[in-house]
Amino acid sequence: MKSAEDISLYRRRRERLARGMGAGVAVLPTAPERVRNRDSHFPYRFDSHFYYLTGFPEPEAALVIVAGESPKTLLFCRTRDEEREIWDGFRYGPEAARERFGVDEAHPIDTLDEAMPALLENQPAIFHPVGADPAWDLRVTGWLNAVRARSRAGVSAPERLQDVRALIDAMRLVKDAHELGLMRRAARISAGAHRRAMQVARPGLFEYEIEAELLYEFRRAGAQFPAYSPIVAAGENACVLHYVANDARLASGELLLIDAGCELDGYASDITRTFPIDGRFTAAQREIYELVLAAQLAAIGAVRAGAAWNEPHEAAVRVLAQGLVDLGLVPGPVEQAIEKETYKRFYMHRTGHWLGLDVHDAGEYKRDGKWRTLEPGMVLTVEPGLYLRAADDLPERFRDIGVRIEDDVLVTPAGPEVLSAEAAKSVADIEALMRDARAGR
Ligand code: GLY
Ligand code: MN
Ligand code: MN
Repeated sequence: MKSAEDISLYRRRRERLARGMGAGVAVLPTAPERVRNRDSHFPYRFDSHFYYLTGFPEPEAALVIVAGESPKTLLFCRTRDEEREIWDGFRYGPEAARERFGVDEAHPIDTLDEAMPALLENQPAIFHPVGADPAWDLRVTGWLNAVRARSRAGVSAPERLQDVRALIDAMRLVKDAHELGLMRRAARISAGAHRRAMQVARPGLFEYEIEAELLYEFRRAGAQFPAYSPIVAAGENACVLHYVANDARLASGELLLIDAGCELDGYASDITRTFPIDGRFTAAQREIYELVLAAQLAAIGAVRAGAAWNEPHEAAVRVLAQGLVDLGLVPGPVEQAIEKETYKRFYMHRTGHWLGLDVHDAGEYKRDGKWRTLEPGMVLTVEPGLYLRAADDLPERFRDIGVRIEDDVLVTPAGPEVLSAEAAKSVADIEALMRDARAGR
């Protein structure tokens, strides 16, 4: 249920979008329900763009915004249905939806095709997530043809079809106070789950048992979903970047890499921690861990308003490349390791991404060929790593060490704010947390 404050928040976003459109009509459907197998569905997740503008959580809905001189917003949604509500639960229905979600009009979703041609008459443009769903593209084409068919009656059809997502993406890139409140809470819940994982990890447990602890902690704290499939990767599995099998046994002497974050009220968190299954780092593990941590701290330090998007990545690469040269794992000097990208053998991904309603959130990274400038309110991850596979023919002590450290960082005028800071990160803090848990403290 939306409070009055929430309603004005979503209304202001819609008004901003309408100003960005200038004139024309935007149509934004939410996500469809998706079948998992036979008659079982995946848990429903609304479309992020639609939700950003409405806060409306039900499937089978579409938002229409008419911009220009007589602006209005219309929500099309499911009607009340006593029978369906007995089986599936509450639905708002148009009448309550109009009131609760602050739109000018609300109508049954099955009247959309009938309503759209009239709404598009004499409009210069239609804004739509072009190409996102072929079925919707076809519907839009059908509406346009219906308007064109009335040309002899003096009606003109929109000449321009524009992807509405670019305008919304630009808005989503800078988070408002409401979003930041949710993102802080999501990150705190996930940080708690990582602490819990460190406390329960023991040789002999399976990766999925740790995954269960993470999911338990997310849900217990009120988060609805994991924001993505958790990665719980012991030993050599940590070197598989998208490992999600989570079915191996934790062995003494190995590291455990966990990349897991919850989604709270639509907002993602994304945290990675790596720690020793025994509770104490070996000398080699510690050497690699401290190197990745130094790279991560350097990258976080580069998250400043006015900096270019790529500066945190460059800061991380410089520290990692220098460390790899010092360890004799890539040839020096460091400038050459960076220029020739020899470090990429052990660090093959980038240092972060935007974070928000989507874990890899909306928003451009470059504009006119130049990296975006960081602004207060932007949230990004900072996640350097090193992946030393046995197959890489390394000195024995460095084999099968995969380390990534990932935090969620908000750009503020005063510098970086680490939203996920409550997840233990220094060697001392991790070892102390694990020691205390084992001692029953
Ligand atoms: N967990 C997804 C990512 O780190 O990008
Ligand atoms: Mn990430
Ligand atoms: Mn991650």
